[in-house]
Amino acid sequence: MKLLLLLLGLGLTLASVHGQPFDPKELEGEWYTIRLASSRREKVEEEGSMRVFMEHMKAFKNKSIGFEFHTIVNEECVKHYVVADETTEPGKYSVEYDGHNKFTLFEADPDVYAIFELTNFKDGKSFKLVVLYAREPDVSQEIKNKFEDLREKHGISKANMVDLTKADACRRT
Ligand SMILES: *[C@@H]1O[C@H](CO)[C@@H](O)[C@H](O)[C@H]1NC(C)=O
Repeated sequence: MKLLLLLLGLGLTLASVHGQPFDPKELEGEWYTIRLASSRREKVEEEGSMRVFMEHMKAFKNKSIGFEFHTIVNEECVKHYVVADETTEPGKYSVEYDGHNKFTLFEADPDVYAIFELTNFKDGKSFKLVVLYAREPDVSQEIKNKFEDLREKHGISKANMVDLTKADACRRT
């Protein structure tokens, strides 16, 4: 019984986040980008700055989160490391990368997947990005459907969605 309660407790920790505060510690470790969708398609197309292949997240004591990822530029793998800080609004983060970005964790089961929603601001313009990361190089259709729901909620067309599960030429494990 105790074990069952413990398992339930663990399962429920981040199952429903919706931009609410979360414990970044639970996101620590290895990740893969599964899907990306953006209101500006060129951002997630080949060579696009937001076509990010996530590798690793680290949680700091001050609640900041370090993201290690790579992009592909001129067919070369380019490593990036950024640190996102929590804003004055708990659960909302900001990070500088191709402009100024604000993001929240939409939903996660931290042992399996995490879905983020992000808005980029640059030169007086903005665009939206939704991203699905997973602990393994692919996830179930059920989880992909959660991502699809969020994409639709943001009015981002399916044509602006990319599947990166087979697009990573840099990371081979
Ligand atoms: C939190 O700590 C990390 C690692 O030391 C640092 O990079 C980051 O700038 C810090 N964030 C704030 C808001 O102080």
